[in-house]
Amino acid sequence: MAPLPISSIRVGKIEDVQELFKSKPNKVPERFIREENERGVIVSSLKTHHLHHQIPVIDLSKLSKPNSHDFLFEILRLSQACEDWGFFQVINHGIEVEVVEDIEKVATEFFDMPLEEKKKYPMEPGTVQGYGQAFIFSEDQKLDWCNMFALGVHPPQIRNPKLWPSKPARFSESLEDYSKEVRKLCKKLLKYIAISLGLKEERFEEMFGEAVQAVRMNYYPPCSSPDLVLGLSPHSDGSALTVLQQSKNSCVGLQILKDNTWVPVLPLPNALVINIGDTIEVLTNGKYKSVEHRAVTNMEKERLTIVTFYAPNYEVEIEPMSELVDDETNPCKYRSYNHGDYSYHYVSNKLQGKKSLDFAKILN
Ligand code: OGA
Ligand code: NI
Repeated sequence: MAPLPISSIRVGKIEDVQELFKSKPNKVPERFIREENERGVIVSSLKTHHLHHQIPVIDLSKLSKPNSHDFLFEILRLSQACEDWGFFQVINHGIEVEVVEDIEKVATEFFDMPLEEKKKYPMEPGTVQGYGQAFIFSEDQKLDWCNMFALGVHPPQIRNPKLWPSKPARFSESLEDYSKEVRKLCKKLLKYIAISLGLKEERFEEMFGEAVQAVRMNYYPPCSSPDLVLGLSPHSDGSALTVLQQSKNSCVGLQILKDNTWVPVLPLPNALVINIGDTIEVLTNGKYKSVEHRAVTNMEKERLTIVTFYAPNYEVEIEPMSELVDDETNPCKYRSYNHGDYSYHYVSNKLQGKKSLDFAKILN
């Protein structure tokens, strides 16, 4: 989460979308209107409807007894999910419903506070923590129809204590509780992912060192012209794994790119959405995919997501794992790099599909 020199970045006026929606509910300023080819058209054709039913749902309760039939079957489904989709939802994930509801409650309370209060925790241009819009680097760059509040959580050195809000009063406590649980879940998932690749279960844990964990809360107010804007620009995540919680009763918003079609991920009650980030794509030499995704908005309903990014320590060197590379049949597709350098590269460029990974691609 290393910041760029602030003075060198001119981002122009960034209007707060919640305030915009409150004061001029029918007007979408020019800076939010996308080129025709990138608009967030909400397709609900038969094709996408059919496809969403295939986004795998993994039942973690089936993974509690190693070597049982259920276990092996679910591991196989997990490996197919990571290979074919890069996305899946988990149910019976072990995080208490109170913890999930609590973070949602404090996040909602945070976004509902007056702008002056939220502005006490500003995301400065070129940085990715605090309240505002991230990944904006020029005055003419289009803006997303989204307010973000992002914080580094772990290890403690990446925290910026000035950005942890004093209101709502229980915010920090709830975030700590939630983050601990999500961290356990990520460790568990990485263990299962290692098994699904035929690796020993501690393979990622040992490599990652003290993993970096950050949270981003995305608040998408309703938009009078959802077909002209995007909630969040297309991107892949720079993490190893991402855990996305969609607020209760939230409408469809997340879409993933599958066979050139934007496929909606329908919220399932008590499920969390997991996706493979760029780091796992590199480590598995492209076997498991970090899939491009985006968010669209809704004309009537707001939407809140709480997103956790889990990644190796910044010190760690990343390269395709030797077990998954074969000079003859599966040559190495990515160069070796330092994860801190990749994180810096990721946060110093605008979100643009899978472009960040060009950083590591070996071009033939
Ligand atoms: C993200 C992300 C999607 C959403 O924050 O990286 O992809 O639906 N969010 O909020
Ligand atoms: Ni994402």
